[in-house]
Amino acid sequence: MGGRNVSDSTPGYGPQKTAPRKHTVPDVRARKGAAPLVMVTAYDAPSARIVDAAGADLILVGDSLAMVVLGYENTLQVTLDDMVRHTAAVTRTRPQALVVADMPYLTYHTGPRDAVLAAGRLVREGGAEAVKLEGGRKRVEVIRALADAEIPVMGHLGLTPQSVHAMGGYRVQGRALEEIEELQQDARALVEAGVFSLVLEGIPADVAALVTGAVEVPTIGIGAGAACDGQVLVFHDMLGLYPGAAPRFVRRYADLHTPAVEAVTRFAEDVRARTFPAANESYRLPREVGEALAGRARARLRAWEA
Ligand code: KIV
Repeated sequence: MGGRNVSDSTPGYGPQKTAPRKHTVPDVRARKGAAPLVMVTAYDAPSARIVDAAGADLILVGDSLAMVVLGYENTLQVTLDDMVRHTAAVTRTRPQALVVADMPYLTYHTGPRDAVLAAGRLVREGGAEAVKLEGGRKRVEVIRALADAEIPVMGHLGLTPQSVHAMGGYRVQGRALEEIEELQQDARALVEAGVFSLVLEGIPADVAALVTGAVEVPTIGIGAGAACDGQVLVFHDMLGLYPGAAPRFVRRYADLHTPAVEAVTRFAEDVRARTFPAANESYRLPREVGEALAGRARARLRAWEA
Protein backbone atom coordinates (compact mmCIF):
# COMPACT_ATOMS: atom_id res chain seq x y z
CA MET A 1 0.00 0.00 0.00
CA GLY A 2 3.07 2.25 -0.17
CA GLY A 3 2.42 4.38 2.94
CA ARG A 4 -1.16 5.05 1.96
CA ASN A 5 -3.57 5.76 4.84
CA VAL A 6 -6.33 3.20 4.84
CA SER A 7 -9.59 4.18 6.50
CA ASP A 8 -10.86 1.97 9.31
CA SER A 9 -13.91 1.14 7.21
CA THR A 10 -11.69 -0.90 4.86
CA PRO A 11 -11.75 -4.53 6.01
CA GLY A 12 -8.44 -6.21 6.71
CA TYR A 13 -6.27 -3.19 7.45
CA GLY A 14 -7.04 -2.82 11.14
CA PRO A 15 -8.92 -0.07 12.94
CA GLN A 16 -7.39 3.39 13.55
CA LYS A 17 -9.70 4.25 16.40
CA THR A 18 -7.69 7.04 18.01
CA ALA A 19 -6.96 9.20 14.96
CA PRO A 20 -9.68 11.81 14.35
CA ARG A 21 -11.32 11.17 11.03
CA LYS A 22 -10.45 13.17 7.95
CA HIS A 23 -13.48 14.72 6.21
CA THR A 24 -13.85 13.51 2.66
CA VAL A 25 -15.81 14.51 -0.42
CA PRO A 26 -18.27 11.58 0.02
CA ASP A 27 -18.81 12.66 3.67
CA VAL A 28 -19.76 16.14 2.53
CA ARG A 29 -21.95 14.80 -0.28
CA ALA A 30 -23.76 12.56 2.25
CA ARG A 31 -24.65 15.52 4.49
CA LYS A 32 -27.51 16.60 2.22
CA GLY A 33 -30.47 17.34 4.50
CA ALA A 34 -28.51 16.16 7.57
CA ALA A 35 -26.50 18.10 10.16
CA PRO A 36 -25.55 21.49 8.67
CA LEU A 37 -22.11 21.75 7.09
CA VAL A 38 -19.68 24.33 8.47
CA MET A 39 -17.21 25.90 6.06
CA VAL A 40 -14.80 28.73 6.90
CA THR A 41 -12.11 30.26 4.71
CA ALA A 42 -8.42 30.03 5.61
CA TYR A 43 -5.39 31.23 3.70
CA ASP A 44 -2.36 30.23 5.73
CA ALA A 45 -1.22 27.84 8.46
CA PRO A 46 -2.39 29.89 11.50
CA SER A 47 -5.91 30.46 10.12
CA ALA A 48 -6.16 26.81 9.00
CA ARG A 49 -5.18 25.60 12.49
CA ILE A 50 -7.81 27.83 14.11
CA VAL A 51 -10.59 26.76 11.73
CA ASP A 52 -9.69 23.08 12.06
CA ALA A 53 -9.42 23.26 15.87
CA ALA A 54 -12.95 24.74 15.88
CA GLY A 55 -14.19 21.61 14.11
CA ALA A 56 -15.22 23.04 10.73
CA ASP A 57 -16.14 20.40 8.14
CA LEU A 58 -14.56 22.25 5.24
CA ILE A 59 -11.81 24.82 4.82
CA LEU A 60 -12.18 26.99 1.75
CA VAL A 61 -9.00 28.59 0.45
CA GLY A 62 -11.11 31.27 -1.15
CA ASP A 63 -10.01 33.73 -3.77
CA SER A 64 -11.22 36.30 -1.21
CA LEU A 65 -7.50 35.90 -0.40
CA ALA A 66 -7.18 38.76 -2.89
CA MET A 67 -8.91 41.29 -0.64
CA VAL A 68 -8.51 40.01 2.92
CA VAL A 69 -4.84 39.00 2.71
CA LEU A 70 -3.26 40.47 -0.41
CA GLY A 71 -4.95 43.88 -0.27
CA TYR A 72 -6.47 43.87 -3.77
CA GLU A 73 -9.74 45.59 -4.67
CA ASN A 74 -11.51 42.42 -5.87
CA THR A 75 -10.84 38.75 -6.61
CA LEU A 76 -9.83 39.25 -10.23
CA GLN A 77 -6.14 39.95 -9.53
CA VAL A 78 -5.36 36.79 -7.63
CA THR A 79 -3.18 34.36 -9.63
CA LEU A 80 -2.95 30.60 -9.79
CA ASP A 81 0.51 30.85 -8.19
CA ASP A 82 -1.01 32.83 -5.28
CA MET A 83 -3.71 30.20 -4.80
CA VAL A 84 -1.27 27.27 -5.00
CA ARG A 85 1.06 28.86 -2.43
CA HIS A 86 -1.72 29.66 0.05
CA THR A 87 -3.46 26.30 -0.44
CA ALA A 88 -0.18 24.54 0.31
CA ALA A 89 0.24 26.61 3.51
CA VAL A 90 -3.21 25.41 4.61
CA THR A 91 -2.75 21.74 3.72
CA ARG A 92 0.70 21.54 5.36
CA THR A 93 -1.18 21.79 8.68
CA ARG A 94 -2.87 18.47 7.81
CA PRO A 95 -6.39 19.57 8.81
CA GLN A 96 -9.23 17.14 9.45
CA ALA A 97 -11.46 19.45 7.43
CA LEU A 98 -11.80 18.89 3.70
CA VAL A 99 -9.71 21.52 1.88
CA VAL A 100 -11.36 23.14 -1.13
CA ALA A 101 -9.37 25.66 -3.21
CA ASP A 102 -10.92 28.35 -5.37
CA MET A 103 -9.97 28.32 -9.04
CA PRO A 104 -8.90 31.90 -9.76
CA TYR A 105 -10.32 34.09 -12.51
CA LEU A 106 -9.26 33.06 -16.03
CA THR A 107 -7.99 29.62 -15.07
CA TYR A 108 -11.14 27.83 -16.24
CA HIS A 109 -12.81 30.34 -18.56
CA THR A 110 -10.59 29.34 -21.49
CA GLY A 111 -11.70 25.73 -21.65
CA PRO A 112 -11.54 22.27 -20.08
CA ARG A 113 -7.85 21.59 -20.80
CA ASP A 114 -6.68 24.81 -19.11
CA ALA A 115 -9.07 24.11 -16.23
CA VAL A 116 -7.71 20.60 -15.66
CA LEU A 117 -4.11 21.84 -15.73
CA ALA A 118 -4.88 24.66 -13.29
CA ALA A 119 -6.92 22.49 -10.93
CA GLY A 120 -4.21 19.83 -11.18
CA ARG A 121 -1.70 22.34 -9.77
CA LEU A 122 -4.03 23.16 -6.87
CA VAL A 123 -4.30 19.43 -6.13
CA ARG A 124 -0.73 18.30 -6.83
CA GLU A 125 1.27 21.31 -5.57
CA GLY A 126 -1.28 22.82 -3.19
CA GLY A 127 -2.67 19.59 -1.76
CA ALA A 128 -6.30 20.66 -2.32
CA GLU A 129 -8.86 17.87 -2.11
CA ALA A 130 -11.44 19.66 -4.25
CA VAL A 131 -11.76 22.89 -6.22
CA LYS A 132 -14.50 25.50 -6.44
CA LEU A 133 -15.44 27.46 -9.54
CA GLU A 134 -18.09 30.06 -10.30
CA GLY A 135 -20.84 30.02 -12.88
CA GLY A 136 -23.77 28.03 -14.21
CA ARG A 137 -24.54 26.03 -17.34
CA LYS A 138 -21.60 27.46 -19.27
CA ARG A 139 -19.25 25.59 -16.89
CA VAL A 140 -20.71 22.13 -17.50
CA GLU A 141 -18.01 21.03 -19.95
CA VAL A 142 -15.25 22.15 -17.60
CA ILE A 143 -16.81 20.39 -14.60
CA ARG A 144 -17.10 17.15 -16.61
CA ALA A 145 -13.43 17.40 -17.61
CA LEU A 146 -12.40 17.95 -13.99
CA ALA A 147 -14.50 14.98 -12.88
CA ASP A 148 -12.77 12.89 -15.58
CA ALA A 149 -9.45 13.98 -14.09
CA GLU A 150 -10.70 12.80 -10.66
CA ILE A 151 -10.89 16.32 -9.28
CA PRO A 152 -14.03 16.93 -7.18
CA VAL A 153 -15.75 20.23 -7.92
CA MET A 154 -17.84 22.54 -5.74
CA GLY A 155 -20.06 24.89 -7.76
CA HIS A 156 -20.78 28.54 -6.89
CA LEU A 157 -23.97 30.29 -8.02
CA GLY A 158 -25.79 33.55 -7.34
CA LEU A 159 -23.54 36.49 -6.56
CA THR A 160 -20.34 35.28 -8.18
CA PRO A 161 -17.59 37.78 -7.27
CA GLN A 162 -15.47 37.04 -10.37
CA SER A 163 -18.38 38.49 -12.40
CA VAL A 164 -18.27 41.79 -10.48
CA HIS A 165 -18.01 43.89 -13.64
CA ALA A 166 -20.63 41.92 -15.56
CA MET A 167 -23.03 42.20 -12.58
CA GLY A 168 -22.31 45.94 -12.21
CA GLY A 169 -21.11 45.51 -8.63
CA TYR A 170 -21.77 43.13 -5.76
CA ARG A 171 -25.56 42.93 -6.06
CA VAL A 172 -27.98 40.40 -4.65
CA GLN A 173 -28.93 38.05 -7.50
CA GLY A 174 -32.05 36.00 -8.20
CA ARG A 175 -34.66 38.62 -7.39
CA ALA A 176 -36.65 38.47 -10.65
CA LEU A 177 -38.72 35.45 -11.73
CA GLU A 178 -36.59 34.77 -14.85
CA GLU A 179 -33.40 34.94 -12.77
CA ILE A 180 -34.84 32.47 -10.26
CA GLU A 181 -35.71 30.07 -13.10
CA GLU A 182 -32.16 30.48 -14.51
CA LEU A 183 -30.63 29.80 -11.10
CA GLN A 184 -32.59 26.57 -10.72
CA GLN A 185 -31.60 25.43 -14.21
CA ASP A 186 -27.96 26.30 -13.50
CA ALA A 187 -28.02 24.39 -10.22
CA ARG A 188 -29.50 21.28 -11.85
CA ALA A 189 -27.00 21.46 -14.73
CA LEU A 190 -24.05 21.69 -12.35
CA VAL A 191 -25.30 18.75 -10.32
CA GLU A 192 -25.78 16.67 -13.49
CA ALA A 193 -22.23 17.61 -14.54
CA GLY A 194 -20.95 16.20 -11.24
CA VAL A 195 -20.46 18.88 -8.56
CA PHE A 196 -20.49 17.40 -5.04
CA SER A 197 -21.83 20.58 -3.42
CA LEU A 198 -22.90 24.09 -4.30
CA VAL A 199 -22.14 27.47 -2.75
CA LEU A 200 -25.12 29.82 -3.00
CA GLU A 201 -24.05 33.41 -2.47
CA GLY A 202 -26.07 36.62 -2.22
CA ILE A 203 -29.54 35.41 -3.13
CA PRO A 204 -32.87 35.77 -1.29
CA ALA A 205 -33.46 33.12 1.36
CA ASP A 206 -36.62 31.85 -0.42
CA VAL A 207 -34.69 31.30 -3.64
CA ALA A 208 -31.87 29.48 -1.82
CA ALA A 209 -34.52 27.27 -0.19
CA LEU A 210 -35.98 26.47 -3.62
CA VAL A 211 -32.58 25.58 -5.08
CA THR A 212 -31.65 23.58 -1.99
CA GLY A 213 -34.85 21.57 -2.32
CA ALA A 214 -34.29 21.01 -6.03
CA VAL A 215 -30.79 19.47 -5.94
CA GLU A 216 -29.40 16.25 -4.46
CA VAL A 217 -26.11 17.79 -3.33
CA PRO A 218 -25.63 19.97 -0.23
CA THR A 219 -25.87 23.71 -0.68
CA ILE A 220 -23.63 25.95 1.40
CA GLY A 221 -24.92 29.47 1.80
CA ILE A 222 -23.35 32.87 2.30
CA GLY A 223 -25.91 35.64 2.33
CA ALA A 224 -28.46 33.04 1.21
CA GLY A 225 -30.59 32.46 4.30
CA ALA A 226 -30.99 29.60 6.73
CA ALA A 227 -32.44 26.87 4.49
CA CYS A 228 -29.12 25.87 2.92
CA ASP A 229 -27.47 22.59 3.94
CA GLY A 230 -24.54 24.52 5.42
CA GLN A 231 -23.06 27.98 5.86
CA VAL A 232 -19.74 29.58 5.03
CA LEU A 233 -18.14 32.78 6.29
CA VAL A 234 -14.85 34.50 5.52
CA PHE A 235 -12.37 34.07 8.41
CA HIS A 236 -11.38 37.74 8.57
CA ASP A 237 -15.02 38.91 8.46
CA MET A 238 -16.27 36.68 11.27
CA LEU A 239 -13.31 37.53 13.50
CA GLY A 240 -13.42 41.27 12.83
CA LEU A 241 -9.96 41.27 11.28
CA TYR A 242 -10.93 43.13 8.13
CA PRO A 243 -11.42 46.87 8.64
CA GLY A 244 -14.52 48.55 7.30
CA ALA A 245 -18.22 47.81 7.38
CA ALA A 246 -19.21 44.19 6.89
CA PRO A 247 -22.09 43.14 4.62
CA ARG A 248 -25.45 42.31 6.24
CA PHE A 249 -24.87 38.53 6.07
CA VAL A 250 -21.67 38.64 8.16
CA ARG A 251 -22.05 37.84 11.83
CA ARG A 252 -19.02 39.12 13.74
CA TYR A 253 -18.09 36.59 16.40
CA ALA A 254 -15.13 38.64 17.60
CA ASP A 255 -13.43 41.96 17.08
CA LEU A 256 -9.81 40.89 16.92
CA HIS A 257 -8.61 44.00 15.08
CA THR A 258 -9.02 46.27 18.13
CA PRO A 259 -7.17 44.08 20.69
CA ALA A 260 -4.46 43.40 18.09
CA VAL A 261 -3.88 47.14 17.56
CA GLU A 262 -3.89 47.63 21.34
CA ALA A 263 -1.29 44.88 21.80
CA VAL A 264 1.05 46.30 19.16
CA THR A 265 0.59 49.80 20.65
CA ARG A 266 1.65 48.48 24.08
CA PHE A 267 4.73 46.85 22.53
CA ALA A 268 5.66 50.17 20.89
CA GLU A 269 5.24 51.96 24.24
CA ASP A 270 7.41 49.38 26.05
CA VAL A 271 10.17 49.65 23.43
CA ARG A 272 10.15 53.43 23.61
CA ALA A 273 10.19 53.34 27.44
CA ARG A 274 13.03 50.76 27.34
CA THR A 275 10.98 48.38 29.49
CA PHE A 276 11.13 45.72 26.80
CA PRO A 277 12.90 43.34 26.82
CA ALA A 278 13.22 42.58 30.55
CA ALA A 279 16.07 40.47 31.97
CA ASN A 280 13.95 37.31 31.84
CA GLU A 281 13.25 37.97 28.14
CA SER A 282 16.99 38.21 27.34
CA TYR A 283 19.74 35.59 26.93
CA ARG A 284 22.68 35.52 29.34
CA LEU A 285 26.31 34.53 28.94
CA PRO A 286 27.56 31.59 31.04
CA ARG A 287 28.92 33.03 34.35
CA GLU A 288 32.60 32.29 33.62
CA VAL A 289 32.40 33.87 30.13
CA GLY A 290 30.70 36.93 31.66
CA GLU A 291 33.43 37.25 34.27
CA ALA A 292 36.19 36.85 31.66
CA LEU A 293 34.56 39.48 29.48
CA ALA A 294 34.32 41.91 32.42
CA GLY A 295 37.97 41.17 33.28
CA ARG A 296 39.05 42.02 29.73
CA ALA A 297 37.08 45.25 29.83
CA ARG A 298 38.72 46.22 33.13
CA ALA A 299 42.21 45.41 31.70
CA ARG A 300 41.50 47.54 28.60
CA LEU A 301 40.39 50.42 30.84
CA ARG A 302 43.56 50.16 32.95
CA ALA A 303 45.74 50.10 29.81
CA TRP A 304 43.93 53.14 28.44
CA GLU A 305 44.35 55.03 31.77
CA ALA A 306 48.11 54.19 32.01
O1 KIV B 1 -13.57 33.35 -1.92
C1 KIV B 1 -14.37 33.14 -1.00
O2 KIV B 1 -14.13 33.43 0.18
C2 KIV B 1 -15.65 32.55 -1.36
C3 KIV B 1 -16.70 32.48 -0.30
C4 KIV B 1 -17.28 33.81 -0.07
C5 KIV B 1 -17.75 31.47 -0.63
O3 KIV B 1 -15.84 32.17 -2.47
